[in-house]
Amino acid sequence: MICKSLPGCFGIEISKIDLSSSLSNDEITNIKKLFQDFHLIVFKEQNLNDDDQLKFTEYFGELEEFPEADKTKESNKTYHVANVTVEGKHLKEEDDQVIFQKVNQRWHTDSSYRFIPSYASLLYGIEVLPDEARGGETEFVNMFKVYENLEDDLKTKLESLHMVHYYEYGRRMFPNLPPVSAFERENIPPVSHPIIRLHPDRNNKRSLFFTANAGNEIGGMKQEEGASLHSHLVDIVENSSFQYKHRWEKGDLVMWDNRCLLHRAIPYDMNKYRRVFRRTTVAGSTAIKGPFLNPENIRN
Ligand code: OGA
Ligand code: MN
Repeated sequence: MICKSLPGCFGIEISKIDLSSSLSNDEITNIKKLFQDFHLIVFKEQNLNDDDQLKFTEYFGELEEFPEADKTKESNKTYHVANVTVEGKHLKEEDDQVIFQKVNQRWHTDSSYRFIPSYASLLYGIEVLPDEARGGETEFVNMFKVYENLEDDLKTKLESLHMVHYYEYGRRMFPNLPPVSAFERENIPPVSHPIIRLHPDRNNKRSLFFTANAGNEIGGMKQEEGASLHSHLVDIVENSSFQYKHRWEKGDLVMWDNRCLLHRAIPYDMNKYRRVFRRTTVAGSTAIKGPFLNPENIRN
């Protein structure tokens, strides 16, 4: 196994390891440690079928299941992230499945709309864009760094705020999509999460946490006031320099920490190019912890 750090201030590339083979306890421990320290790992030159990827993902915890039947492959633990059907047909840009991919083009973390959002995601490149194509990368941003560099006044203002996250917001962005099903509405109601998030593996280090594909409302604020603060936060992330843009090669498996990084897909010509990924997701185990849970911050 060979490790190399990636540009930007987080992330590591690992090559010369075959994740489809059975891994030793030492190898797993080592990967877990690297994940804790770097939050994003790019594994190069993999050759994984669905079961290999599920098995590797299970080393990190329980898998998240997708209630949305239209996003999954055979198992509801593997997401089909593609502008191509499971059978291999390239879909037009207007197709619902392709529009769902566009929801990923806004900064987000996976399943932020759940009460317990996901811990980590693993995305595997099956069909990737050719070198000459523009776009198609996945971009990540380090939200510890974004938080550290906020103005003090803004840090203070954000300290006690929560954002409302809801699955249905994706449909508002693209009104041509079919409405959410009764099952989805019932099972994924809106939830609020602290905007300052403490990282359990980093001694409760603070990061900024919001998403741009699951709402723009801030709990307790008037709608316009919340939306305007939210769009200010989006601008800050947009212009931050703590980013890493992953240009995919076939066989890359990228694993990231949803607890401190945001990510988004970079737009590309969807009618011209095929893009096929498989995603597995490690479920979170606890609700998001905000600064209000720190005893020293509680005043009577
Ligand atoms: C996802 C996602 C990014 C991409 O599958 O959760 O955000 O580049 N994908 O497709
Ligand atoms: Mn995502």
